[in-house]
Amino acid sequence: MTNQANPEQGDAAQDLAGKHIVLGLSGGIACYKSAELCRALIKAGATVQVVMTEAAAQFITPVTLQALSGRPVYTSQWDAREPNSMAHINLSREADAIVIAPMSADFMAKLLHGRADDLLSLMCLARPIASVPLLVAPAMNREMYAHPATQRNFLQLEADGATVLGVGTGFQACGETGDGRMLEPDQLLEDIIAFFTPKVLAGQRVLITAGPTYEAMDPVRGITNRSSGKMGFAIARAAREAGADVTLVAGPVALPTPRGVTRVDVRSAVEMHEAVMARASQAGIFIATAAVADWRPASPADRKIKKDGSKSTPQLEFVENPDILAAVASDAATRGTPYCVGFAAESHDLVENASAKRLRKKVPLLVGNVGPDTFGQDHNALLLIDANGHLELPLAPKRVLARRLVQEIASRVRSVRSVGSAKALP
Ligand code: CTP
Repeated sequence: MTNQANPEQGDAAQDLAGKHIVLGLSGGIACYKSAELCRALIKAGATVQVVMTEAAAQFITPVTLQALSGRPVYTSQWDAREPNSMAHINLSREADAIVIAPMSADFMAKLLHGRADDLLSLMCLARPIASVPLLVAPAMNREMYAHPATQRNFLQLEADGATVLGVGTGFQACGETGDGRMLEPDQLLEDIIAFFTPKVLAGQRVLITAGPTYEAMDPVRGITNRSSGKMGFAIARAAREAGADVTLVAGPVALPTPRGVTRVDVRSAVEMHEAVMARASQAGIFIATAAVADWRPASPADRKIKKDGSKSTPQLEFVENPDILAAVASDAATRGTPYCVGFAAESHDLVENASAKRLRKKVPLLVGNVGPDTFGQDHNALLLIDANGHLELPLAPKRVLARRLVQEIASRVRSVRSVGSAKALP
């Protein structure tokens, strides 16, 4: 396997390819973020039709949204461009989803009462409820957000079949600080992508290790490796999108936490081992992507090791670190859970080495890759090895591979659970 990026695939995973989104804007200062969201949806492969209320057009012009979406924006139910004069019917029938971002408190109240006195609310009411989902991104002042009427309305909106995407916390345009800001465009995009992802891991608790570990020699120096954590973070995101409750135990990396994922930051292999063992018994699936250091300095110095002018070099002694995957797999062998997935970063003879490692680590599934080629890259190629043989997932963005891998894991977990315990597998 090689790891040359394929220019045809581009950098961005086309997560929303083939999806047609009607993006509705109601009135609020957060409309400025909707321009960015529109762009992000298109970059993710969707086509976007923008519909704006009169109030939204006070905050951002339809011209901006037309230029970004590449389509004329609809603002009125009396729009003469529609031959049948029924924009609310035509637009909603074409949509894979209607996303209202921002959704103002007033617009939400309108939706709840089934009012339909402007194109956007009319279209929401007229949408085929079973086939066109409605996702809403609230945006309002913190007092408006906390008001019992608003909170009551959220519950009712969900009971009526809408998906409420949550809000951000922080500085608000009014100068106050609190809950109610519209989520950032990249967060909304992640939530929309997650919404469309089949929930093959619904109800599963997934525990993942990612990144390198750092083994201290003294307070300022240590031993680590070139793992970027990107593959593990991509798997955490894909597992959450597939409906799992995900905990990510991360070594020292500067990657953003995927939405909806619980992150536990650790530094050394010993810390990672502790964090994992405290959580493994509650997990249904354990995925060990971390490049855990095999050894650590036996006695790290309390103070910085200084040159003493004698030209003698420090003598380091090492002790072996706990094997986290082997420890979890050994518990799983008696309990039958979690289903364990190991990773192998090899430099040569991938099939032979990874197959041997699967048996040595006693895990049902081992995922091999060529370590030096993949560290820090956005693309990778994987080799899945289980008791039935091996399956190659060819070179692709790590995000795409993570999704494929999650599907493969989900189908194996389903078949293991349907025939009995995981302990029989390796
Ligand atoms: N692993 C772990 N704890 C360790 C070492 C490795 O959990 N102390 C996990 C890794 O996260 C990975 C798998 O074990 O899922 C394989 O790790 P690797 O370092 O490639 O294998 P080793 O057993 O260390 O074998 P070698 O270095 O000889 O290739």
